Amino acid sequence: MNDVVLPTATVATDASEAPRRVAYNDKVVLQFSLATILWGIVGMAVGLFIAAQLYWPTLAEGIPWLSYGRLRPLHTNAVIFAFGGSALFATSLHVVQRTCGVRLISDKLASFVFWGWQLVIVSAAITLPLGITQSKEYAELEWPIDILITVVWVAYGWLFFGTIAKRTGRHIYVANWFYGSFIIAIALLHIVNNIALPASFTKSYIVYTGAVDAMVQWWYGHNAVGFFLTAGFLGMMYYYVPKQAQRPVYSYRLSIVHFWALIAVYMWAGPHHLQYTALPDWAQSLGMVFSLILLAPSWGGALNGILTLSGVWYKLRTDPILKFLIVAISFYMIATFEGPMMSIKTVNSLSHYTDWTVGHVHAGALGWVAMISVGAIYAMLPRLLGAERMYSIKWIDAHFWLHTLGVVFYIASMWIAGVMQGLMWRATNADGTLTYSFVEALNATYPYYLVRFSGGALVLAGMFLMAFNTWKTYATAKNPATGNALAANAPA
Ligand code: HEM
Ligand code: HEM
Repeated sequence: MNDVVLPTATVATDASEAPRRVAYNDKVVLQFSLATILWGIVGMAVGLFIAAQLYWPTLAEGIPWLSYGRLRPLHTNAVIFAFGGSALFATSLHVVQRTCGVRLISDKLASFVFWGWQLVIVSAAITLPLGITQSKEYAELEWPIDILITVVWVAYGWLFFGTIAKRTGRHIYVANWFYGSFIIAIALLHIVNNIALPASFTKSYIVYTGAVDAMVQWWYGHNAVGFFLTAGFLGMMYYYVPKQAQRPVYSYRLSIVHFWALIAVYMWAGPHHLQYTALPDWAQSLGMVFSLILLAPSWGGALNGILTLSGVWYKLRTDPILKFLIVAISFYMIATFEGPMMSIKTVNSLSHYTDWTVGHVHAGALGWVAMISVGAIYAMLPRLLGAERMYSIKWIDAHFWLHTLGVVFYIASMWIAGVMQGLMWRATNADGTLTYSFVEALNATYPYYLVRFSGGALVLAGMFLMAFNTWKTYATAKNPATGNALAANAPA
């Protein structure tokens, strides 16, 4: 029982303040934190640009490398792997040192992981606009980059698990379980989904064909959501929410049940991406059933995060970092309620191919992934930069509102547009002919694309504010005489 209670207390009091002082490797954590902000801005700017192209279709017409088909995968790769990935590297390497009470096993390996991942990102940013792609969603990068990813990932796994092996206590804090499962699952998914025969340095052919290819791709695609966009970020939730609230996790026991339930269920839900396709019917139903089951552990875990605030709800009034973290969990609940509903075959027959899916994606991506990352980075940054707190707490609050409003604009417009498209596409007249042509549905969608664009612009503006706040924090920490904003903006 003792080892169940201890780690939660550890997190609430911060191991770095414990009597036994350890010289942590915070350089790599800072590098990845800054990379998160940089790639967040780049990835979201590309997202905003393609959102603009959907409203102003002639934007950048005639320039192949700025065409929608090439920039869309650039957006998804940049936000998922560069922005989300950097946030995961930063926080996992921060958390594993604090909760294990030891420094990372090797500074050189840490540096290799950082620069190796940046090389992956830059290679993606060059090859995707050139149209070099495997044509598999979220796995577009060609084989030489895939090999580089594998090498960097193995180094990352070595660094993370090696540090866990050196820990001072016996217990492994639950956040590390989530991060660890993310590292192992992504290695498995990446390797299996990318087995290909190279035809040249820039072209390869995936070994799978037909329905098998589709199944492997969506086993990968869904678990990329489950492990890249969810498990690691739940690790973040289990460290930064208790830490920021200065409270132990609501129920440590529930966090263990949460972990094993997610691990047991996620891997089976992939076929919900392939409803009404050539996939065997039983596999489609299996995907639907497991997706419905997934609602329980997802909400159980989310409530465990939110209820951690029991007794200190008032902190939400004054601490915008906590607001980021808690609202992120609320968006997680929205996405994980909506996902199981969309996996029901009859609902999917309406939602599939429509902007409803895009709305769901961004409830998860912009609401959950981006907000929990931003909150966690704000929580870590001041110390990493040698400051007491961020330069301006008011700016963090402004960022929170820009982001929240932006997400609401984005997802609400896509929900309405999506349901409308689904209904218009399926409407038939008494004689069986279609009531609306495709262009009529497109025209009806048009205004919603402007609303989505405005939402994206608000979110991006918030990211710029974060970058500026970071710069001012650094400048003030270096030269405290430059301003007294720290004290002026401190939360009450
Ligand atoms: C300023 C913020 C953002 C804007 C304006 C934006 C915009 C867009 C647009 C226009 C699309 C294409 C939709 C379509 O083809 O119909 C898209 C797709 C996508 N975005 Fe974003 N995005 C933003 C942030 C993010 C973030 C932070 C993430 C992930 C962490 C993300 C993940 C995705 C994914 C996974 C897709 C593919 C969706 C699908 O295939 O259904 N986006 N985004
Ligand atoms: C219980 C959890 C969830 C379930 C059961 C679920 C289910 C679904 C379903 C049924 C679709 C539509 C498939 C289609 O019609 O093509 C979908 C799409 C998607 N979901 Fe979720 N979802 C869940 C949570 C999340 C979360 C938390 C995120 C992001 C952080 C996310 C990201 C995505 C993405 C990126 C797609 C679009 C894939 C594509 O077509 O490119 N989902 N999800």
